[in-house]
Amino acid sequence: MGSVRTLNNKAATLFENTEMDRGPIHASRGGALTDDVADQSVLVFGPFCMSITERWLRKDTIQLNLSSRAFDILAVLISRAGSIVSARELFEIVWPEVVVEASNLRVHIVALRKALSDGVDGLRFVINVPGRGYMFVAPVKRASSMEDLPLTLQPQNRLPSIPRQLFGRAEAVEKLSELVLSRRFVSVVGHGGVGKTAVSIAAAGVLRPAFGEDGVCFLELSSTTDPTLALAAKLSIAPCPFNCINTQDAIVRFLKDKRLLLVFDNCEHVIDAIAPLAARIFDEAPSVHLLATSREALRANGENVEFLPLLEHTTPGPTSHNIAPAVQLFLERAAAAGGPPSMCDADAPAVLEICRRLDGLPIAIELVASRVATHGLLGIAELIEQDAVLTLQGQRSSLPRHQSLNALVDWSFNLLSADEQQLLMKLSTFAGSFTLEAVRSLYGQSDSEGARTAGALSGLVDKSLVQVSRSRTALYYKLLHVTRTYCAHRLERQRSGQAEPVMKTLGGGDIHEIQYDGTVTSVIASPHQSDWASPALQAS
Ligand SMILES: Nc1ncnc2c1ncn2[C@@H]1O[C@H](COP(=O)(O)OP(=O)(O)O)[C@@H](O)[C@H]1O
Ligand SMILES: [Mg+2]
Repeated sequence: MGSVRTLNNKAATLFENTEMDRGPIHASRGGALTDDVADQSVLVFGPFCMSITERWLRKDTIQLNLSSRAFDILAVLISRAGSIVSARELFEIVWPEVVVEASNLRVHIVALRKALSDGVDGLRFVINVPGRGYMFVAPVKRASSMEDLPLTLQPQNRLPSIPRQLFGRAEAVEKLSELVLSRRFVSVVGHGGVGKTAVSIAAAGVLRPAFGEDGVCFLELSSTTDPTLALAAKLSIAPCPFNCINTQDAIVRFLKDKRLLLVFDNCEHVIDAIAPLAARIFDEAPSVHLLATSREALRANGENVEFLPLLEHTTPGPTSHNIAPAVQLFLERAAAAGGPPSMCDADAPAVLEICRRLDGLPIAIELVASRVATHGLLGIAELIEQDAVLTLQGQRSSLPRHQSLNALVDWSFNLLSADEQQLLMKLSTFAGSFTLEAVRSLYGQSDSEGARTAGALSGLVDKSLVQVSRSRTALYYKLLHVTRTYCAHRLERQRSGQAEPVMKTLGGGDIHEIQYDGTVTSVIASPHQSDWASPALQAS
């Protein structure tokens, strides 16, 4: 660090007596920076920025490794941009009180030019003036805010991989890509594991030609608590040394004249932060298009919500010509995991029943199908019957919250308010579909309790944990099998004061069933006897 201090002292001399104001530095003007400015400024030239006092040089945002001497030489030359600096002066400043060979200076100048790609694409930075010395010839300006920095978008041409074949989602992908192009801001909303990420990645792939190879930026948010910082980092804005400007302002300024598709994946846990950010980008960056995935709508200005339904699972089974997408997914995953490559007519009812019991939820189907080789079809059906399906382990390469259905629902459950958590556990006592009146009659009898219950129920619907169906006269609600099983276990644990998980068949507590005349009865039957896909209900 000796050379830093020496350079700073010497630089101070260089920087004194300068006529330079605080405006841009141009090579043609000659002169140098004041000591004060040199201490604080970030200097920008070509695609580079540099801090003399903090001793770094970056290209775009990548820090370059320059030797200490080469850095000192650059600092001296740049502080006298447009003027010739003799070799003698350079020796005095960079190697004070040391006698060095002339070749040393040449070696470091060569290294410096190499680091700056001097001469490539016609860009010149350091030239040799024969017999007189060296001169920094590129325009240099002093950056006073992030927008002065030579930021360029790093290539974002990699989208995460998705299954080669997305069953039953061709229309959804097409519709989504059209909406993103025409409306600019779309959120795909649905239950965890329903395929929001997969469908959005497929749509982003379709849209890539419209935005260019580097024009699609995919931001996975599940492991971040600060989406603004995560986006800044993705756009290579975060390493900027300025703290005088708010990061969100910097992002918006950076994006305002860019054409880009930004995909925000898994927004649910940072929804309060991502909603205003997305709304600002939508308002202030007119050529930026936004695609978000979330278990809950962002409720942000400009947003168009697209609900992603469960996979179709009611049409005929494995050997039919018109195989339901849920069944196709099951068969493909079962075969990929070493299960039977094709199934026969006799298997059809069991496969259909499994897909039905799992409500056509892709993550659940994928997970159980991968266990067919171990447990067989009947074994899988039994696991579902016993609710042991929650703890089946999926692929190790999946996101942690996709490795088991327990983890999947846990992630959503932990994002709920206390009221919503309590209500969701209680709702698991309904064996099938239920109405708000039924819930109120059991759990919210006073007016204030009733209002709280209605509020919590609507929160659960918003967060995709309670599904809504509509008959001609009423709204019906229901929980998916995995949600219900998870909540029933939690309720049982809460009631018995147990801390550790209990994985056993439901049925120990109350089970409520609603009749279609609106009355609620307590039943002791297995909850699975109830048919959630009652023909009395039409999917909303
Ligand atoms: N239609 C589909 N066809 C094949 N696999 C699917 C389909 N939908 C979802 N998947 C798979 O199911 C799992 C969960 O999907 P994902 O998109 O991550 O759900 P979400 O984002 O809604 O939580 C992933 O492994 C995904 O590849
Ligand atoms: Mg997802």
